Amino acid sequence: MKAEHAQSRIAALRAEIGRHDELYYRKATPEITDFEYDVRKHELAELEGKFPQFASADSPTQKVGDDRAQGFVEVAHRQKMLSLDNTYNEVEVRAFHTRLTKLLEVEDLRYTVEPKIDGLAVSLTYEDGKLVRAVTRGKGDKGDDVTANVRTIQTLPHTLTGAAPRVVEIRGEIYLTAAEFERINAERAAAGEDLYANPRNLAAGTIKQLDTSEVAKRKLAIVLYSLGYCEPEAVASQSELHDQLRAWGLPVVEKIWPVRGIDAAWAAIGELDGLRRSFAYGTDGAVVKLDAMAQQRAVGATDKAPRWAIAYKFKPDTARTRLRAITIQVGKTGILSPVAELEPVLLAGSTISRATLHNEDEIRRKDIRVGDLVEIEKAGEVIPAVLKSFPEERVAGAAEFDLFALVGGKCPVCGSGIARLEVAAEEAQGVAWKCQNYDCRAQRTGRLGFFCSRRALAIDGLGETVAAKLVELEWVKDQPDLYDVTLASLATLNLGTTEELRIFGEKNATKIVAAREAAKALPLEKWLYALSVPDVGESTARELGRRHRNFVELADSTLLKAVLQKAELLAQREFEAPASRKNPAKSDEDKARRKELCARLDAEIAALDAGVLAGAPADIGPAVAASLLDFFAGEPGRRLLAKLRALGIDPQGTVAEAGVLTGKTFVLTGTLPTLKREEGEQKILAAGGKVSGSVSKKTSFVLAGADAGSKLEKAQALGVRVIDEAEFLKLVAGQ
Ligand code: IVH
Repeated sequence: MKAEHAQSRIAALRAEIGRHDELYYRKATPEITDFEYDVRKHELAELEGKFPQFASADSPTQKVGDDRAQGFVEVAHRQKMLSLDNTYNEVEVRAFHTRLTKLLEVEDLRYTVEPKIDGLAVSLTYEDGKLVRAVTRGKGDKGDDVTANVRTIQTLPHTLTGAAPRVVEIRGEIYLTAAEFERINAERAAAGEDLYANPRNLAAGTIKQLDTSEVAKRKLAIVLYSLGYCEPEAVASQSELHDQLRAWGLPVVEKIWPVRGIDAAWAAIGELDGLRRSFAYGTDGAVVKLDAMAQQRAVGATDKAPRWAIAYKFKPDTARTRLRAITIQVGKTGILSPVAELEPVLLAGSTISRATLHNEDEIRRKDIRVGDLVEIEKAGEVIPAVLKSFPEERVAGAAEFDLFALVGGKCPVCGSGIARLEVAAEEAQGVAWKCQNYDCRAQRTGRLGFFCSRRALAIDGLGETVAAKLVELEWVKDQPDLYDVTLASLATLNLGTTEELRIFGEKNATKIVAAREAAKALPLEKWLYALSVPDVGESTARELGRRHRNFVELADSTLLKAVLQKAELLAQREFEAPASRKNPAKSDEDKARRKELCARLDAEIAALDAGVLAGAPADIGPAVAASLLDFFAGEPGRRLLAKLRALGIDPQGTVAEAGVLTGKTFVLTGTLPTLKREEGEQKILAAGGKVSGSVSKKTSFVLAGADAGSKLEKAQALGVRVIDEAEFLKLVAGQ
């Protein structure tokens, strides 16, 4: 691989992994399996090894995932919480042993083999035997204080039994049993709410709830397996630790394997694999640890993970079954997604009859055809997926998958035309077919469900099932029509059939009415995102919400028009440049005239940049601007705004009033000692300042923290003033 190719692949992988880290650790809504994630991470680590010139302290291979959420107090760990190196193959487990024998100059090493629990890491501090604090892993050095929530875990003693150290950090994993996970999901299903994908996400989502009484309703469980800071020292080995934890009355794993040598460790991993499905918690691997603490200390740790432990991850469970049919689902943006309808098969404890097939290109690439024997995978995570087919066992005559032919060139829900287009929407990447009818029932349902989802207006209790019913009955066409549905009609809504009634009920209906009322007060950014305006994701909505007062101003946005105008000027500038390839100057006279014209265009562009566009975020480009203005000028957008007006709903932008930072533009870089990036940005905006993504001569201040990179260098080169967090806080305070 050429260096430049490697560089761009590294950048792409870092961006992709960064996105999945955010989804997994912060939002608890992963889109890919752990295995798929690990494959990407290994590829990145390998490339960084081969091309050390592109290594970076900012790379996801060098950091532990960040699970910090808004609304919690951050607390430093006394001893850093590290991650574990992981592998999927035996050779690397043996290489781990070889490494240790060399480092320690001892051949005969003792290990423990333990289950790797698929939960949420937490560190408990006990002082003189009393539980004083529970903190999530966070960034490794500091995490969120979730003490109140952890105290609701019934099996966790708040006082240790017997003699306890003065201070000890005890680490473990919070999880939900499969039974509890199913109980909660069944309850949600009955209330017509969306279901959680798996126990891990539900546990992570629960511990990050700000309302402790809600946490207490879900029976979280915990299991403890390791020590952080401990004073005075309590144990000399990992196996002793296990016994000590149990003696203190703490919940521990049902079995650990103390072994001598790597052959025995490998055998124990096999035994564990045979047993693990009977455990109360999900397991995704085995952890092999050096048993003697003295040896652990001797080999130490890297920034990210200890050298004395390795995680061997089990491959996700797979099964073989027949692909009966491929059906098509239509999402909120109209994208047609293929779904595998399978001969039901038992896999990882549940019966699977449907699986995702991603998109048409992938089905062709994997050569999957209706009638095929297929291999499916369920990784405890997300929805099961079809991995591959077995073309050699194919019955003759199975046709290659052709989505257009399957649906007869029409949307299977509304019968309108479909178009093939490039998409980068949340639910699909690449090329897809899309239903062209904004009023399609499936799109309406998708949009209504999204409108009510947690990330949008959080109208809890109104999930896909209820949304589908409301749209089917035509009580709701556009999302704000939800406000016209009366409490009485919601309460008597039948989600079942005429034979088997399933009445939504007064309690659920009341909840929705209260939630939709509360949503009226949400800011413009939330409403803009919730209304599924094409091309407007969460961050674009946030940026726009901070720059417009209301929908009326946004629909006729000066900022967006300026973005378009600048794009036009740039295109014209390129065309008129005397050396333009498409339009080279024909004579000296022409050249002189065009030089002058270009200078005028440059001045116009510069005026836009310094005026309306100053501090405008880079992700609002001409495509987004055009799409937004078109939407609000078109029929659907006009209809939505008229409806909101009629309902008296007028969400307000969070445009900052003049403040101490008015007229100042900031660029943030690196990690600040106490403020999270969003908190810093909020302070700037609240004080009337602007935040920009890149440093230029017009930048007033660069606020730099640890590991600041190229932005800091650029600031120094341009002579822009660089400040640290302490100075920044003084500025904000008006000093
Ligand atoms: S020991 C210094 N033991 O897996 C690291 N970790 O993927 C000490 N985990 O961060 C960790 N089961 O949150 C250890 N039996 C076990 C574990 C375990 C699950 C988690 C832990 C770790 C993560 C790494």
